[in-house]
Amino acid sequence: MRTNEELTTLCKKHVPPGLAVLTASFVKEARGAIIVDMNGRELIDFAGGIGVTNVGHCHPKVVAAIKDQADKYLHTCFHVVPYDLYIDLAAQLNELAPGDHHKMTMFVNSGAEAVENAVKIARHATGRQAIISFENAFHGRTNMTMTLTSKVKPYKFGFGPFAPETYRMPFAYCYRCPFGLTHPTCNVACADHLEDFFINNVAAEKTAAIIVEPIQGEGGFVTPPPEYFPRLREICDKHGILLIIDEVQTGMGRTGTLFAIDHWGVVPDLVITAKSLAGGLPLSAVTGRAEIMGTSHVGGLGSTYGGNPLALRAAMAVLEILTKDGLLERGVLLGERMLARFKDMQNRHEIIGDVRGKGPMLALELVRDRQSKVPASDEAKKLVSLCYSKGLIVLACGNFGNVIRTLMPLVITDEELERGMTIIDESLHELRG
Ligand SMILES: Cc1ncc(COP(=O)(O)O)c(C=O)c1O
Repeated sequence: MRTNEELTTLCKKHVPPGLAVLTASFVKEARGAIIVDMNGRELIDFAGGIGVTNVGHCHPKVVAAIKDQADKYLHTCFHVVPYDLYIDLAAQLNELAPGDHHKMTMFVNSGAEAVENAVKIARHATGRQAIISFENAFHGRTNMTMTLTSKVKPYKFGFGPFAPETYRMPFAYCYRCPFGLTHPTCNVACADHLEDFFINNVAAEKTAAIIVEPIQGEGGFVTPPPEYFPRLREICDKHGILLIIDEVQTGMGRTGTLFAIDHWGVVPDLVITAKSLAGGLPLSAVTGRAEIMGTSHVGGLGSTYGGNPLALRAAMAVLEILTKDGLLERGVLLGERMLARFKDMQNRHEIIGDVRGKGPMLALELVRDRQSKVPASDEAKKLVSLCYSKGLIVLACGNFGNVIRTLMPLVITDEELERGMTIIDESLHELRG
């Protein structure tokens, strides 16, 4: 069998360097929250393939569903010979997504593709063109989604020109408030800023939709205060603007609820799911108000592979595990335990400026000192590699790369969780030198 080292050499020769690779570990197998590499090393996975394995690697119910489906049919293309699986999963998501109005769902393959389709649908339904996204946002790597994304390097640098009629406004980043204010005395001025934005940047009556992550994922697990989304919703309603909630990273139990936006009690017009939706297979969905989803002409929407039968069966298993097998409740418990450990670490490690997130979607923002809040970007990088050397895979994020985030499978055992948290704690000690 080839070693990690041999595969790393081959990778350098055959795969373009533009594809970043975090660890030197080539996977041999993965179960639950453990990845075994080609050298037989066991790693605790706090990355979950970037938020894809909320139900764990190779969950037996997901694997069984895929195998069963593989024996029946793999692909007919829903647009040629349709299948009931598509309708059944659409009906489930329509039922589970926030709001009790009539909803419809379409499937595609990746988060970016779903965002693209949500934008198409919003423009067609409103007859307006402008789309507003946020600073620190990440929505994908296709032309439109790269345009909506905020961070220039590495995501956009040299890849323009970008899509027209997109605008970006500051987000509710309380730890680094773009308006220099403090919550709650700010009275979420960042949300009200939208009204100024319509004066200075784009007219409200030309704006089709606002697209926003409930908790910014790649942007640093930036978590808005409770009043933020209700206020955005109000302003959108006032101007007939659609609210698109991108739950690609936050959805499917990541925050202890099926949809993260439920923490704010807000009902979106369109909601996008992907990543953990199909437990490791490529599948994404746009779910939204029937009258909006239904406006596009026949043939205007679609995808050859969108709603692939294997992925749909996997997603049905995922929903069952989350809603019927108690994994959402397990996520809430994990979140409480992790938050307590992180708060304790914050008391002992000066470098932790902020602890934030919801449920088990938590983050530590590292700073050189708490007064200046200078981002501790190099330290975060070193922390990630120290953790890896001790057997934990963990990811950094944020515009400065100084935020450590948790995206572990929710099936992680108590012992694995404790071990992972202890590795982070020990690595923070070592960082001090
Ligand atoms: C919030 C959000 N939207 C969209 C995407 C793009 O998803 P994909 O990589 O599946 O295209 C991501 C990926 O990280 C994401 O976090």
